[in-house]
Amino acid sequence: MSVTTDSIVEKRLLVTGAAGFIGANFCHYWLQQHPRATLIALDALTYAGNRHNLEGLEQHSGFRFVQGDINDALLVERVMTDHHLNVIVHFAAESHVDRSIHDPDAFIQTNILGTHNLLRIARAVWLDGPQGWIPHRFHHISTDEVYGTLGPQDPAFHEETPYAPNSPYAASKAGADHLVRAYRHTYGLSTTTSNCSNNYGPYHFPEKLIPLIIVNILHNKPLPIYGDGRQIRDWLYVEDHCRGIATILEQGREGESYNIGGCNEWANIDIVRLIGEIMDELFAEDPRWLQAFPHSAAAQGRKSADLIQHVRDRPGHDRRYAIDATKITRELGFKPAVDFPTGIRQTIRWYLEHPQWWQKIMDGSYREWLDVQYGALKA
Ligand code: NAD
Ligand code: TYD
Repeated sequence: MSVTTDSIVEKRLLVTGAAGFIGANFCHYWLQQHPRATLIALDALTYAGNRHNLEGLEQHSGFRFVQGDINDALLVERVMTDHHLNVIVHFAAESHVDRSIHDPDAFIQTNILGTHNLLRIARAVWLDGPQGWIPHRFHHISTDEVYGTLGPQDPAFHEETPYAPNSPYAASKAGADHLVRAYRHTYGLSTTTSNCSNNYGPYHFPEKLIPLIIVNILHNKPLPIYGDGRQIRDWLYVEDHCRGIATILEQGREGESYNIGGCNEWANIDIVRLIGEIMDELFAEDPRWLQAFPHSAAAQGRKSADLIQHVRDRPGHDRRYAIDATKITRELGFKPAVDFPTGIRQTIRWYLEHPQWWQKIMDGSYREWLDVQYGALKA
């Protein structure tokens, strides 16, 4: 059995959840690095999936988009065999903690059962197919949330930290991680897993903190801070996450888990204030933005920070996440390249320059969902 993916002469990728935030960034990154690679992008296009996130990739002859559910065994098996795929990079998931609190069912369905379906097919095709065992790799994308929550002085999560998921989202991801581990241990499937901290960057769906704050400032809408806003997250620029995953695909040791993090802890309230300051500066420097966004806080003569409103806390809200990424740095030489001041400015500019991307999302039923959510939180 191979220890790294080096024995896979040509990596032919199935990327699940490819039309979501990180999956789409990964497809762009991988095809930029390997323009002639085979990459089949599979996505069910749930509310979080967006075909526009993959625009421009059709120019690569090895790229195909397939709309479908990871629970659809016949479809997944056909895609795997038709294209002779030998690597799965598994992003597809329900990913929003608040939604998992309101309605956990879809999280079990996709994150646990869907992952199991992929593992089952990977086993059938790569271990027990007509040619017997073939070189392969199943890379599973997981999260730091499986480790639970940290106190202010606790050491950061490392790969041996016991799992203690607190939200239905985190529990469903932990369940998926355990299944990946079990398929390796029991059947000999060649796997790797990465557990990453909070990402930010282009294509981030505006239900998550950073894009929600940017878009709400552009609408002069309240900036909801759950509880006291002193909860801490470790933020990583999404392209760094993609590079970390690519590094694991290229050099990662089979059977290992790698933590990926930004070494960049921020309290929510501080990050919201920072975004507000940067946006106020940008609007002051360049009056074009005032014309482009006449409903924005700045165009209405307000400071962004004035929109901050503390609302009811998230039930079971984890207080602090922090990643110890020593292992991936020591073993694979990977370190994040984009510092936070650069990454956050780049991200804000991306949202300012791509209003058509998020306006499409905000115009639909999603805006109503957000307003209902916000009304419930204020109550
Ligand atoms: P996202 O919600 O933006 O995208 C998820 C994608 O999966 C969407 O395109 C959606 O249509 C697709 N999908 C959902 N159910 C599906 C199904 N049954 N079949 C096929 N496709 C389906 O999520 P994201 O933020 O891009 O996260 C991607 C992965 O990274 C997830 O596994 C998540 O747990 C993990 N992760 C995310 C973060 C983060 O900060 N966003 C951090 C660490 C790990
Ligand atoms: P989120 O982006 O949902 O990511 P996660 O819950 O996976 O960490 O939230 C990041 C942090 O921001 C989290 O502590 C919850 C908080 N938060 C708010 O305070 N207000 C909001 O409107 C949202 C969406 C999140």
